[in-house]
Amino acid sequence: MHPDVEKLLFSRADIDNKVHELGSIISRDYAGQDLLMVGILKGAAVFMADLIRAISIDVSIDFMALSSYGASSKSTGVVRILKDLDKSIQNRHVLIVEDIVDTGLTLTYLLKILKARNPAGVRICTMLDKPSRRKADVPVDYNGFTIPDHFVVGYGLDYNEKYRNLPEIYVLKEEIYRSK
Ligand code: PRP
Ligand code: MN
Ligand code: MG
Repeated sequence: MHPDVEKLLFSRADIDNKVHELGSIISRDYAGQDLLMVGILKGAAVFMADLIRAISIDVSIDFMALSSYGASSKSTGVVRILKDLDKSIQNRHVLIVEDIVDTGLTLTYLLKILKARNPAGVRICTMLDKPSRRKADVPVDYNGFTIPDHFVVGYGLDYNEKYRNLPEIYVLKEEIYRSK
């Protein structure tokens, strides 16, 4: 284990099983429809790469990169689009792919933006859901695991841009994020 992590939360096997479970459900739900999966950079990149390979129907993919507005504060929930979608989503079935829903502010804002573009529908798929920190009600349609209020890293999730490459999901040691 990485020296900065306190414990393992979800192993490779836990993650693989969950990704395949989600992939089957999504493939069934979107059968016969024009599905566009949208990964939210950077956190969702790893989950997105695994999830699309667990989808058994035709699917297109795209990515968006968002940034919280203002000086490192995430509290307003107002996000700036750093990278937008390549094409129109009008009349398409959009599935947003996230690594974690925390306060829900990022997705609340993003949902508003995407719905204004008149897609056929927008749903949310997240690997992790931390409902105890929610500030805005977000409709999570597909959820991997519900987790308590721990600082988690790995499998795309970072602390200060670090630990995204860890292949499993871990709880970060408190001393790492308290000391900074
Ligand atoms: C993290 C995470 C989600 C968002 C969830 O992204 O990947 O996108 O925060 O937080 P919220 O529900 O409280 O809005 P971050 O802004 O850290 O960017 P990153 O994906 O590049 O790490
Ligand atoms: Mn993110
Ligand atoms: Mg982050």
